Amino acid sequence: MIILGINAYHADSSAAIFRDGVLIAATEEERFRRVKHWAGFPSQAIGFCLKEAGISLHEVDHIAIGRDPYAKLARKILFLMKNPGGGFRAVMDRLANAKKVASLAEEFKSLDSSLDEKIIKSRIHHVEHHRSHLASAFFASPFEEAAILSIDGSGDFTTTMTAVGRGNQMEVLDSVDFPDSVGLFYTAFTQLLGFPHYGDEYKVMGLAPYGDPKYVDQLKEVLVFDSNGMFHLNQKYFRSAKSGIISYGEDHIPVVAPLFTDYMIDKFGAERKRDEPLTQYHKDLGASVQRITELLIFHILNALQKKTGLKNICIAGGVAQNSVANGKLTRNTAFEKIYIPSAGHDAGISMGSALYVYNQVLKQPRQLPQYSAFTGSRFSNEEIETYLQSRGITYIRYTENEIYDIITKQLIDSGVVGWFSGRAEFGPRALGARSIIADPRRADAKDLLNSKIKRRESFRPFAPSILKEYVGEYFEVTDDVPFMEKVFPIRKEKQSLIPAVTHVDGTGRLQSVDRNTAPRYYQLIETFRQKTGIPILLNTSFNENEPIVNSPEHALDCFLRTNMDMLVLENCVITR
Ligand SMILES: [Fe+2]
Repeated sequence: MIILGINAYHADSSAAIFRDGVLIAATEEERFRRVKHWAGFPSQAIGFCLKEAGISLHEVDHIAIGRDPYAKLARKILFLMKNPGGGFRAVMDRLANAKKVASLAEEFKSLDSSLDEKIIKSRIHHVEHHRSHLASAFFASPFEEAAILSIDGSGDFTTTMTAVGRGNQMEVLDSVDFPDSVGLFYTAFTQLLGFPHYGDEYKVMGLAPYGDPKYVDQLKEVLVFDSNGMFHLNQKYFRSAKSGIISYGEDHIPVVAPLFTDYMIDKFGAERKRDEPLTQYHKDLGASVQRITELLIFHILNALQKKTGLKNICIAGGVAQNSVANGKLTRNTAFEKIYIPSAGHDAGISMGSALYVYNQVLKQPRQLPQYSAFTGSRFSNEEIETYLQSRGITYIRYTENEIYDIITKQLIDSGVVGWFSGRAEFGPRALGARSIIADPRRADAKDLLNSKIKRRESFRPFAPSILKEYVGEYFEVTDDVPFMEKVFPIRKEKQSLIPAVTHVDGTGRLQSVDRNTAPRYYQLIETFRQKTGIPILLNTSFNENEPIVNSPEHALDCFLRTNMDMLVLENCVITR
């Protein structure tokens, strides 16, 4: 049985395909379109998934779209009545988008004109946004039984949903409706701090350790904790209830309107302009926003834990990308084990909606848990060589016995290496398939990377990839972190050994590298360990102000555009 899941007409448009419940391929549309967070119909991602599965659209038994225009319709209408004027526009925008969702069969027909629209229509399942998030976490997890949380900006008029999962079924327990949203709360302050783009929230998370969370009490008036284990927003601070939030232009780039009101400016100061420096106040405010978000997540989870009595928790949704909060969960709640999928954000909706149809709707048995994010594009050495020759690029193809030595020598000689190996990652993190790597021992590695390639804000940290067996030796918490989804404190005595990946507060957003899941990346780090004694590499995404590279062409262009020292495309090595 083939199920194709999609996230469409929504940021981080994507597709995922399953055969009998086993994931064959999953990828974001942005990787092909080369536009970050691309939000239209994922036609190229669908094409890729079908090719990987070796089938045509005719052979897809079920199509799951992680969106239900009719979800909470009564609540939407009520909202519309309570919020005339601007609110009307917001809802009309949503309905226009819903119409697009409704004409999905036509979109599929445009991919393959031989399709019968009626048959396609009969195969389409609409799965509500948060149920898709919940499914992406629980059905992919190793747990037979778990509490589940979906938490984001907003999707299908909901912003937060809790559930309990048992076997192949989930039961929703509670939810919070738009416009009360932790995601929108975080976004509003992200904007106020001078980061206006969709998806900039992680910058505030990176900034927070430079500040003191001294405004948490003040923020408790903005983000109000409710006694039922949920929360609401003090709407005086937010424009969101009165007008549209996210719009998608013809270019399919999501744009978030400013969410804060003059009232918020009165209380927390004016929006920082692009060229204005980040003051200590901005850092303290960032720290406070991060801190209260963590406290709220603990608040929700502690109530959920009490209600369910369960020890396992699965989390998804945009707020689940807050790796700093994730790293603190077992120490601040009674949950003992956590699963967060590699695409916890909206790209994971494609995977989640497909799993929902397979497990929840069709009542099929669960398959093996998903510990690998390597479900994207792949290229053979032969394809790469043909491409490099067509571009007239000089390269050397090394054997597996030679190549790790060549790369680690370059890293130790202070090089920055573009590493393109195996299938691309699904999700926002590079995990050693489309990564730029460097020596974590270099105190100046951050400056080196920023000057040679990334040109990003100097306060943002770089992440360590560490061989799984050594996590306890370097970090104060021992746990598997396959998707770089948690930040842990680095042991004091180790911090000076790996300054390039130690954040200002002594933490690191680690990725524990498993020999079976990422054998070549594991071998590379192991070779580095044998030479230096350090089982860690600095890992950052292979891109330069663009979506992560997907093909040898993108990688080569990025290499040529920047000052990277070495490019590795599978076994082919290019140097300057
Ligand atoms: Fe979402």
